[in-house]
Amino acid sequence: MKKSKGIKYVTKKGGVFWPSDAMKEIANMSDPKIYDKAEKNPVKFWGELAKGGLTWEKEWDETYEEKLPYFKWFKGGELNFCVNCLDRYLDKPKAIAMIWVPEPTNEKPIKITYGELYDKVNKFANVLKQNGIKKGDVVSIYLPMIPQALTAMLACTRIGAIHSVVFSAFSADALKARIQDGKAKILITADGYYRQGKKEPLLKKAKVAARKTTIKKIIVVNRIGGKVRGGKFLDFDTEIEKANSYCKPEIMKSEDTMFLLYTSGTTGKPKGIVHDTGGYATQAYWTCKWNFDLHRGDVMWCTADIGWITGHTYAMYGPLLTGATTLIYEGGPVFPNPGRWWKIIQDNEVNVFYTAPTAIRMFMGGDKKWISKYDLSSLKILGTVGEPIDKESWMWYFNKIGGGRCPLIDTWWQTETGGTLINTLPGIGPFVPTVSGTSFPGTRHAIVNERGGAVPKGDSGFLVQQSPFAPGMLHGIFNNHKKYVDTYWKKFKTMYDTSDGAYLQNGLIRITGRTDDVMKVAGHRLSTAEVENAIHDNWHVKDCAVVPMPDKIKGQVPIAFVVLKWRKSSEKLEKKLKKHVDIKIGPTARPKRIFFVEDLPKTRSGKIMRRILKALLINEKPEGLMTLVNPNSVEKIKEVVSARS
Ligand code: WTA
Repeated sequence: MKKSKGIKYVTKKGGVFWPSDAMKEIANMSDPKIYDKAEKNPVKFWGELAKGGLTWEKEWDETYEEKLPYFKWFKGGELNFCVNCLDRYLDKPKAIAMIWVPEPTNEKPIKITYGELYDKVNKFANVLKQNGIKKGDVVSIYLPMIPQALTAMLACTRIGAIHSVVFSAFSADALKARIQDGKAKILITADGYYRQGKKEPLLKKAKVAARKTTIKKIIVVNRIGGKVRGGKFLDFDTEIEKANSYCKPEIMKSEDTMFLLYTSGTTGKPKGIVHDTGGYATQAYWTCKWNFDLHRGDVMWCTADIGWITGHTYAMYGPLLTGATTLIYEGGPVFPNPGRWWKIIQDNEVNVFYTAPTAIRMFMGGDKKWISKYDLSSLKILGTVGEPIDKESWMWYFNKIGGGRCPLIDTWWQTETGGTLINTLPGIGPFVPTVSGTSFPGTRHAIVNERGGAVPKGDSGFLVQQSPFAPGMLHGIFNNHKKYVDTYWKKFKTMYDTSDGAYLQNGLIRITGRTDDVMKVAGHRLSTAEVENAIHDNWHVKDCAVVPMPDKIKGQVPIAFVVLKWRKSSEKLEKKLKKHVDIKIGPTARPKRIFFVEDLPKTRSGKIMRRILKALLINEKPEGLMTLVNPNSVEKIKEVVSARS
């Protein structure tokens, strides 16, 4: 794409924003008829997209097979994911695949070409093979935002190994649980990384996590000068240097598992979401083409960490599948000052910027000079993901970062869906603050009541996905059929339960948030049950409930209500409990507050009424007190809460 700086890509009509002629002209998709075309026969439609977007070794026998609760896309088709990201773009080996921006300002950004990345990935794939990794084996990746993360992930896909990436800010315990569930043979990690000007150690946690597990070798990237030697430790770069430079790609079936990614649900144990190869690749490719309008040479910066699905699909894989350039940044958003992100956009001429509302809210409160200092005219499209965005933040992002020129798309999706599903397309519009938009062409969503029936237009209800299920959708929970059925299919049987609420606003979908006990803390998905489990570990704790409370910047923060056995509450104990959450899960999950109370509101069957606790936190009148066995507890909790607010 020719980079035309500062072009106006939107125009205002009828109080909302639409793509301008300039946007329609460059857009990969600007024909509104695409929705009807796809709707007529979604299976045929996806078949055509899969053929058009990917390189297959063998065409499939059947485009879609549905045997609920499972379904398969491109059955019998064969491909290699890594070939689709790298080999097919070797006609321009000098094109940039990745720009890596290290946090320390005395280190220069590094540009890695498709040719160089291909070389490294092949070599590292051979390293994995030499260490006994075969097709179908699980490899744990516990890395920060450094280029080796991409090398490691792609190397797995080259040899058909299943990667399981774990967020580097998660604790040793959290990593261990994921290693054990996947029975990973190798762990790839780093000695540490830079965050907010400090060295953040990682290897220490990795070592603790790997103890007494299936891990045979730990491959370590030297990022902060730590040395590893001997035993089960290998140095990432030394091993790459020694390895052969070509590794034949393993030809995979479309429905073979490509990766696992653990996510939080309503129970205490994270579940390993299973993603396949061909379906995932198809959705990742086309959502990048049509949502982010990626062309070869475009620079996309998705700020999500690789530990989350957004990092997988839009910071790592999607841009490469389309031959574009992905930018990743190692460190904190305001280091060394609040201008850092905007300087990165200016210096690297970023075209597409994709971030979470939490980040927007954080920058909104800051000094304007940190933004106006920089030239952001290379931007073409803006996106948000992960949580609902309010109108004020939407307008601020649109005007201050996008200069009022760029389509802003609010993309709704989940770890389970692999790629985006509900948003308007930049070439089609409209762009309406707080509204996500329409189902991606070829996918179907509905808003239903408790029994699965349609709600009257405009009423709130449960958001479901209908058959045929999108190609990027999960293919189960690792080794847990029952949980897969219970979580996604029990309630509506033939429709996928998203656990989100939504309503229609002028025909467009507006997401209202989770309907279960999942929190979104600074865009990070966490379960209240996991935090409760961690607090319960303490011997003094008799009972505990964790609920999300609205937060101006982070969207939601966890708040804990704790009943002690007989010990008196103290600040020391509060600190200890918080620290324990850090150890069990990670600081992301640390409760902002712990209220020590005498009793928790419970129903006759012993169920804690978290709804009531939520209401008390926001000063609302709690409903449903009649169903409680201990209605008196509510007044007392109210006193504790207001005393500390
Ligand atoms: C929420 C993140 C409102 C939603 C990709 C969903 C959103 C959960 C949006 C999945 C959005 C995601 N507007 N809410 N645009 N996007 N969500 O698995 O509640 O980390 O169920 O995947 O984030 O979180 P996850």
